[in-house]
Amino acid sequence: MTVDSKEIDKFLVELLQNVGKSLRDDALKKKSVDTKKNRNDLVTNFDKKTERYINSELKRVFPEATIVSEEGYGDLVTDMSGLVFFVDPIDGTMNFVKRGDDFASMIGAYIDGEPLIGAIIDVMGNNIYHGGKEIGLFINDEKIDIPRNLPLVEGLVDVSAPMALANKFNVQDVIKKSSGFRVYGSAGIIFGHLLTGKEVMYMSYLAPWDLAAGRVLCEAAGMSVVSIDDAPINMLKSQVVIVGTQKVVSEALTTVKTR
Ligand code: IPD
Ligand code: CA
Ligand code: CA
Ligand code: CA
Repeated sequence: MTVDSKEIDKFLVELLQNVGKSLRDDALKKKSVDTKKNRNDLVTNFDKKTERYINSELKRVFPEATIVSEEGYGDLVTDMSGLVFFVDPIDGTMNFVKRGDDFASMIGAYIDGEPLIGAIIDVMGNNIYHGGKEIGLFINDEKIDIPRNLPLVEGLVDVSAPMALANKFNVQDVIKKSSGFRVYGSAGIIFGHLLTGKEVMYMSYLAPWDLAAGRVLCEAAGMSVVSIDDAPINMLKSQVVIVGTQKVVSEALTTVKTR
């Protein structure tokens, strides 16, 4: 299948501009909130509405594509052939519900398993991070300067709170070697920080829709995206991932303990 990555990028940016406009209104409205796997795993009527909207637009313009998405309106995708979109309609639902900021919406496009285009909107900041290896990286219309390959000792790291608190994988030793530790509660917001050099590493257990767009963008920025056991990333399963500058990821891999 041949695809025009510029055209896909432009479409995803326009789509996320519309999503951003609606979600900034929705953030002020009363939400209907349900729980999923546990009391902190939230889903709102707006997560579902946004996913239905994004998926129907993707299907309208790319009818041959398949969609992996969080809230159940996607396809059952069992292989990565052809054009595959990954959709996280609201990333950071807890922040959306409790704080009304620091949440994102993300779409990643892959072609025959290869990262193609990533697009992430920081909804309340109204900034869209987008692009890919072929077309370069942008915040809105501006080119992103590729962040420096800093070592752990020179940068802030973000680790999911449960992982850090339980010292899973010996991650506290990674944190201690860094400049400091931050927890933002939205993978999409953190990918924005990595792309603009504000943080040098993110470690979390991520589902395919949490990782897809950020992986495209961070790899295009020369960063490393690895699973904690250093196995190749499998985009059709959830896994613990480390994303960051090449120096930081290799230091982190020598510090974490997987058994
Ligand atoms: C969650 C956020 C959070 C990360 C979780 C994700 P959601 O996404 O990205 O930062 O630690 O693993 O599930 O559920 O709000 O889309
Ligand atoms: Ca969720
Ligand atoms: Ca998410
Ligand atoms: Ca979500």
